[in-house]
Amino acid sequence: MTATATMQAAVIRRHGGPEVTEVEELARPAAGPGEAVVRVAACGLNHLDIFVRRGMPGLPIPLPHVSGGDIAGWVDEIGEGASPELIGTAVLVDPAVGDGALGETLPGGLAEYVVVPVANLIPLEDPDRLVAFAALPIAYGTAYRMIVTRARLAAGETIAILGASGGVGVACVQFAKRIGARVLACTSSSEKARRLRDLGADDAIDVLEEDFSAAVWKLTDKKGADVVVDYSGKETWPGSIRCTAHGGRIVTCGATTGFDATTDLRYVWRRELNILGSDGWTRSELLDVVGLVARGEVDPVVHGVYPLSRVTEAIAQLEERRAFGKVVVVPDAVYGQVTEKEGQHE
Ligand SMILES: NC(=O)c1ccc[n+]([C@@H]2O[C@H](COP(=O)([O-])OP(=O)(O)OC[C@H]3O[C@@H](n4cnc5c(N)ncnc54)[C@H](OP(=O)(O)O)[C@@H]3O)[C@@H](O)[C@H]2O)c1
Repeated sequence: MTATATMQAAVIRRHGGPEVTEVEELARPAAGPGEAVVRVAACGLNHLDIFVRRGMPGLPIPLPHVSGGDIAGWVDEIGEGASPELIGTAVLVDPAVGDGALGETLPGGLAEYVVVPVANLIPLEDPDRLVAFAALPIAYGTAYRMIVTRARLAAGETIAILGASGGVGVACVQFAKRIGARVLACTSSSEKARRLRDLGADDAIDVLEEDFSAAVWKLTDKKGADVVVDYSGKETWPGSIRCTAHGGRIVTCGATTGFDATTDLRYVWRRELNILGSDGWTRSELLDVVGLVARGEVDPVVHGVYPLSRVTEAIAQLEERRAFGKVVVVPDAVYGQVTEKEGQHE
């Protein structure tokens, strides 16, 4: 147990743009009954952190707030009722707590310490890959549920993935290739398209250069994709509907560009389309993902690792659509120790 009374944290005191996030000293939290304090080694960023900072209609966030749901670290303290043997263990945290999540409705891991229900701790056998594990829960957990559980993607099927360079996007590409599907990755630059091909995509479409829907239609000999993954929402949804095959599935977990998207219902009935919603992950799905990474069968794509003091720069990678894969933040006090082990830097 450490004796520090304060900790560095990225604090949001009001909703707004990047300027409202300040790295400052906060009181170090303490563990209540059934809880643990985790010393954060790495915290993966998600688009959710941007939505939380901006404020989401219908989801009040108690302010001041610390976001960051994807946390890997070491158990530093445990509360009443938990096993003291956990102290010092390297863990991944399942961010789903009740109806909310750490970093969303509860304080998150963009800090040196975070309070976590003991039931959400996933002990890790490999303590030297904490950046890789911190890249997983929200993006890879959600992608796994979309591709495996909801869309039930099968070998030999064709899948089109919109926003393929993002955290959820690269995970979808990796899971779809593992299954043996033909992957058409849609992205916003030729450089990202090249990297998606390197990651295994069979074709990559630059959406700023061509109409992705027409391109998918052409690449599938006018049959359409069996599965389309679209969490970009308003801007892409009409095109996604048009390029889905007869009897195909469109799966969504979000709407980065707006949720008031237009659905041309003629396509839905004539092509007998199946629109599938997918929200989060189950513990069992997350454990499947952790197992794939622990066995070296999936290697999470990490765009860069930033010290907590530069968290605004790190979030800008997502907000300005520059990231390829996951951006991970590491507290300054352990930055050298953590990044050296994994050979990862910004
Ligand atoms: N329901 C759930 O449980 C759940 C869980 C995780 C994520 N989500 C949702 O899934 C979406 C993706 O999340 P993420 O964390 O993977 O985000 P991310 O890492 O920021 O990636 C989003 C990708 O979408 C594309 N994009 C399209 N329009 C964009 C815009 N205006 N600004 C930024 N990127 C844009 C970009 O890819 P290209 O440049 O390749 O086009 C970008 O890389 C979000 O809407 C998020 O809320 C939902």
